[in-house]
Amino acid sequence: ISEDQINNQGHLTIGGVDTVALAKKYGTPLIVYDVSKIRNQIRAFKKVFAAEDVKYAVSYASKAFACIAMYQVAASEGAFTDVVSAGELYTALKANFSVKKISFHGNNKSLAEIEMAVKNHVGKIIIDNFHEIKLLDQVLREQNTKIDVMLRLTPGISAHTHEYDQTGQVDSKFGFDLESGQADLALEQVLANSRMNLVGIHAHIGSQIFELNGFEMAAKKLMEVAENWRSQYGYTAKIINVGGGFGIKYVAADHPLKPEEFVKAIVKTIKQEAKAASFPIPEIDIEPGRSIVGPAGYNLYTTGSRKIVPGHRPYVTVDGGMGDNIRPALYQAEYETVLATNPQAELTEHVRIAGKYCESGDILAEDQALPATRSGSLLAMLDTGAYGYSMASNYNRNPRPAVVFAENSKAQLVIKRESLADLVHLDQSYNED
Ligand code: LLP
Repeated sequence: ISEDQINNQGHLTIGGVDTVALAKKYGTPLIVYDVSKIRNQIRAFKKVFAAEDVKYAVSYASKAFACIAMYQVAASEGAFTDVVSAGELYTALKANFSVKKISFHGNNKSLAEIEMAVKNHVGKIIIDNFHEIKLLDQVLREQNTKIDVMLRLTPGISAHTHEYDQTGQVDSKFGFDLESGQADLALEQVLANSRMNLVGIHAHIGSQIFELNGFEMAAKKLMEVAENWRSQYGYTAKIINVGGGFGIKYVAADHPLKPEEFVKAIVKTIKQEAKAASFPIPEIDIEPGRSIVGPAGYNLYTTGSRKIVPGHRPYVTVDGGMGDNIRPALYQAEYETVLATNPQAELTEHVRIAGKYCESGDILAEDQALPATRSGSLLAMLDTGAYGYSMASNYNRNPRPAVVFAENSKAQLVIKRESLADLVHLDQSYNED
């Protein structure tokens, strides 16, 4: 957090709004986004492309955090978006997101999802597998229409990141394999289908990646495929989409480049490859999720019980946990946490920040240095904006928190806190007779 985020009461502010006031007004646990950070990151990505003078699309990977307000902000910054389910598509459409700027991803899109995407004429369908080619063909015939598609390829690159976050290695559930000729076969099928307009190729190598290398290799690989396909099939890809995955800094030990540095390297690689092969410079698309919303998000928690096992770090328990942020339990993800009422206070102890869920693994932080806290202290966990709320659950029938957008010293509720009544909303009583 920066110096200017601390107000004259010494409290942490987000988007110019005092976190103490936010907690008081909306309750905790609370998820707060600094909207200007979201805007600035989208602008930073666009700036790279503008400086390189290439055609491009910055597509927000909305799985990182989706709600109507988020799609509105992405749209107002001129971003495209990609969705991976009927639910995300529905939300984007509810937000009036320009449908031409929506791409539909997924490794097992259902018939109903494909029908919905085609009926609404989404900008692109990113085809993942042969089953999908069949389903899409069926839907296009039924609706007697055409659609722009891309082929998702598996470039055979293992990104240095958590195993669950790798997607580009050969043995992956996503995309067409290059080595075995599957990708060529997919190309033949799509080229032969007059209702599918193949605009380009796509690869996504993983998430929370710190090294340039993987992206450069992926960009190179995609250009090689494009060149091969041009010489073998006379097909010229117009768009190269290198996916997302640009890593962000969560804790002091993380040293990623700035997200836009990754993009710079990708653009450079593609330009070089194109030049060497006299291939027309394609449009370059990226799909960042985490880097757009991660650093903009904060989780506010109120502390409750405290347990001290002699000789061990105390457990400081908060009113949220794995239901609003499963990443520590699922990926051993780490975050920094500060005392919101005095982020600059001297750090006097190391604690474990425990969640309230009935599971030993529900520890939000294994070792966090904090000033003295008591029951009722307000903590702010930083950089929680990606894959937090979007992976939230109702485990233990805890309601999901509210989400607030803060900008220009004003706060607005964008997702209401779930109520207890919401939790039984879908339940039906069981009739014993
Ligand atoms: N494009 C595709 C095709 C993807 O599968 C993903 C993420 C992205 C773009 C965006 O990647 P990002 O820029 O956000 O890294 N739940 C995990 C992350 C899963 C990422 C899934 N795909 C986590 O919390 O770390």
